[in-house]
Parts: sequence; C-alpha cells; structure tokens
Amino acid sequence: MKALVLAGGSGTRLRPITHTSAKQLVPVANKPVLFYGLEAIAAAGIRELGIVVGDTHAEIEAAVGDGSAFGLEVTYLRQEAPLGLAHAVLIARDFLGDDDFVMYLGDNFIVGGISDIVSGFMAKKPDAQIMLTRVGDPRQFGVAELHPDGGVKSLEEKPQHPKSDLALVGVYLFTAAVHEAVAELKPSWRGELEITDAIQWLIDRGYHVESTTITGYWKDTGNVEDMLEVNRLVLESMEPAVQGESLDSELIGRVRLEPGARVERSRIVGPAVIGAGARVADSYVGPFTSIGADCVIADSEIEYSIVLPRASIEGVRRIEASLIGHDVQVTPAPNTPRAHRLVLGDHSKVQIHDRT
Ligand code: TTP
Repeated sequence: MKALVLAGGSGTRLRPITHTSAKQLVPVANKPVLFYGLEAIAAAGIRELGIVVGDTHAEIEAAVGDGSAFGLEVTYLRQEAPLGLAHAVLIARDFLGDDDFVMYLGDNFIVGGISDIVSGFMAKKPDAQIMLTRVGDPRQFGVAELHPDGGVKSLEEKPQHPKSDLALVGVYLFTAAVHEAVAELKPSWRGELEITDAIQWLIDRGYHVESTTITGYWKDTGNVEDMLEVNRLVLESMEPAVQGESLDSELIGRVRLEPGARVERSRIVGPAVIGAGARVADSYVGPFTSIGADCVIADSEIEYSIVLPRASIEGVRRIEASLIGHDVQVTPAPNTPRAHRLVLGDHSKVQIHDRT
C-alpha cells in the first residue's frame, strides 16, 4: 500500500497567502496543515509516499524533506500545472506501479486519522473506496448517490440539484483499476481531469466502488473560514505548556508558549499558542489564536486568528477572525487626517470597521 498526497493546486480561495506560499503549509496551531495528513498516513502503517507538487514545490520540499521525520520515504512528483486530481494520479503512474494506494488531499484535515479506513479497505478489497460525510450545503462538494448496501451509484461534482447530502471527503482508496479510468478521461468544463469522473467511469464499467460515511470531523481548509475553524479545533485539544517566559502576565486556560516566546504585561486567554521567539507585550490574545514564530504583538488585541511567522501587530484593537501572512506589519495610521493607509498585495481582503 502506497500513499499519494496532493500538494500542488492553485489555491485561489486562499489568496493572497497562496501568491507567495503553499496553502498546505499554512499553520494550524503553528504546524503546517499538511503535516497532520502525513502523520495520519504514517500512523496507518504506510511508508512509501508520493507528494504531487506544483509551483510551490521548493517550499514543500524544504518543509517535508525526505520524509524521514515522519517515518515516510517521500518521492516528489512534479505536476506542470494544476490540471485536476485525476491528472495527479496520471502523472504518478510510474511511482504507484500496480500497488493499491490512498490518495490524500494535502489541504484536508480529518480528526481520527485514516488507520481504520485503510485497514477496512485492505480487508474488504473493493476496486475503489470513497469517504463521505453529511454536509449542510452539498452544492459546493462532490456529491454521492448510494445504493442501499452502501455501494456508490453515481457521483456529481458541485451539483446544482444534489441527489443527497453526502459529500466526498478528500481521502480516496484505489486499486490499480483507477489507472485505466484516468487514462480514458477527457477534461471537464473547467479544464481539469476530475477524480469524480474517474470513479464514475469505474462504476459505469461494473467495478465495485465502496463508500464509508465518516461521522468524525473533516474540513477542507481551502478557505479562511475553514482554516480558522480547524485551528480552533486543534487548539481545543492541545496540551498546555509554558516553555517560554511570562512576566507580569496572566495565562488563562490552555496556553502554549513555545521556546523563546516572551509575554509581558499581557493577558492570554486560551486555547492559544505563542510561537518560538515571538514577543507579546501590553496586549490581549484571546481564545483560538495561533501566533507564529518571531511575531511581535504589542499594545494590541487579537483573537480567533492565525498569524504567520514574523508578522508584527502594534497598537491595533481589535483583530478577529483573521489570517495574517508572514512578515506582515499592521500598525495604526497617524491621527490626522483620519484615513486608512494600505499597502495590500493582489487579492488581499480587508474589512475595515469605520464609523467616521
Ligand atoms: P483544490 O482545493 O480542489 O484546488 P486548488 O488548490 O486549485 O484550490 P482553489 O480551489 O482554491 O483554487 O485541491 C485540493 C488539493 O489537491 C490541494 O491540496 C491542492 C491539490 N491539487 C493538486 O495537487 N493538483 C491539482 O491539479 C489540483 C486541482 C489540486
């Protein structure tokens, strides 16, 4: 059994962060979201992993290396453009050989890992297996229609009129039969080779495609809201630890100060993590906040947010539900004239509270 992790893509929903960084490396509780997936794969007993990479290959390779830190042997597979999930399988053909494999979308987050899913697949050995979860609005997902026995009858990508509320989760199990399907595919209306079309191809030719409906937590962290929500969830079960320094400050609830972090005259209400070498002074850091390494938070208030390394926030109240990129500076504008002064990268999103 091998694993194929998809860590290319264009990440348009997470712009401008993805103009300069891979979305799979956006940190959740100060650890790249991709690493949670790699840990789940290793915990399922898989060793051989192919990582599909695109324009951000250098950054992904620098972060994951040869995989030995995770107990994995990593082969990088370069996809020249994000031509679809099934295209990623196509370019991984030589790496995968005729082995069974689990395909894992590198920006997905699943609580509870994939060990049970993988062992269930190995015991039952269908031709392919998909994971489903019930969602409120299936129109933005791949949606499955099932036979009464749980076998998959049909799949539709982002349907206008969904046939069920069962959305595809970003973990798939395949036998070598999928290569036949992928080789036959034509690009969809959005110009991509769709994995849903490959699975439908298998169903149409009488292959047995099984489904498992997971009840645990799953999120695609492709947009800011979901990223913040996953960060909240991970922080909620984080072990508190004070490896940094706290002076004249209150640390309430689950708070982790990473080594070299320094908190002065501040109030940190957990769950929250303050990264290595970060400095928080005269500030309030509220629940569900991850402050990255070497950030400066001074004379400010922030909560329910993710701040990437080396950003500085000084004299600002109050920041909420925000994702702030690395090396960003947020400061107040001078008092007169009353104006916002902005230097924003392409596709930035700013919401300004202004009653003047
Ligand atoms: P998506 O989130 O579906 O696609 P995207 O990265 O292009 O993002 P957006 O919709 O915001 O533009 O991709 C799911 C995962 O698969 C993600 O980790 C990126 C990866 N991927 C590839 O590696 N190759 C591809 O061709 C595609 C489409 C995605």
